Amino acid sequence: MHPMLNIAVRAARTAGKVIVRSFEQLDKVEVESKGTNDFVSSVDINAEQVIVETIRKSYPEHTIIGEETGVSKGSDEDYQWIIDPLDGTTNFVKGIPHFAVSIALKVKGKLDQAVIFDPIRGELFTASRGKGAQLNGFRIRVNKNKELAGAILATGFPFKHKQHSQAYMAMFSTLFLKTSDMRRAGSAALDLAYVAAGRVDGFFEIGLKPWDTAAGELLVIEAGGLVTDFVGGHNHAKSGNIVASSTGLQKDILKDIRPHLGEALSK
Ligand code: IPD
Ligand code: CA
Ligand code: CA
Ligand code: CA
Repeated sequence: MHPMLNIAVRAARTAGKVIVRSFEQLDKVEVESKGTNDFVSSVDINAEQVIVETIRKSYPEHTIIGEETGVSKGSDEDYQWIIDPLDGTTNFVKGIPHFAVSIALKVKGKLDQAVIFDPIRGELFTASRGKGAQLNGFRIRVNKNKELAGAILATGFPFKHKQHSQAYMAMFSTLFLKTSDMRRAGSAALDLAYVAAGRVDGFFEIGLKPWDTAAGELLVIEAGGLVTDFVGGHNHAKSGNIVASSTGLQKDILKDIRPHLGEALSK
């Protein structure tokens, strides 16, 4: 295993322990609101701290971008770690056992290493640039499915961006009518990991942040899939509007969402 992936895995597993321990004593967890429909708990913050400490110990010169603590610049900006300490906070605080730790490393602007860890199921998704994607050490690949008929798509509702509800519902219903079914499980990182593992055929969501998608994007690409913005370009890290699936399905999904985008979502 690449030494930097090894550190990412160690950090994710340590954070996973912090998260599971608190999940068993949810009544002691403090929850605060960061904005409309946007929550953060003491556990998100503690988990991010242990991840940052683990990375800092081995790579003090690297830059770290965390959802909860923001950017901490190191002397070497070529190496950027992008962390979501707890993806699926709403599930976590409601006692729904579906959430993950997501850690990605970018080297000179390119995704290089990725870990998504589901601490409840003990599922560790990893990817290294050019080396494929794994689940608990076994190679995973996206589905070869070329048709929306029979496909299952994962998605997230735009609960933080309700101005896009109508456009989203229009995309959803166009795709829903053509596919077998949809899943809204509540963790974008796991949604992308599940695309990589072929558990779902594709994923789309509006307005995600880099820490939601960085590790999952590398997983999907290394598992043989595609990740784009809503018009097939590569602006998704900025816009947060993301579609991921097998190469066979991607163009069909893009074609179906296109008529509903309007100017705001055409990126
Ligand atoms: C959220 C989850 C959710 C997605 C939201 C994200 P958080 O991340 O990934 O599935 O729909 O848009 O913000 O806040 O729980 O880390
Ligand atoms: Ca959050
Ligand atoms: Ca997240
Ligand atoms: Ca989070």
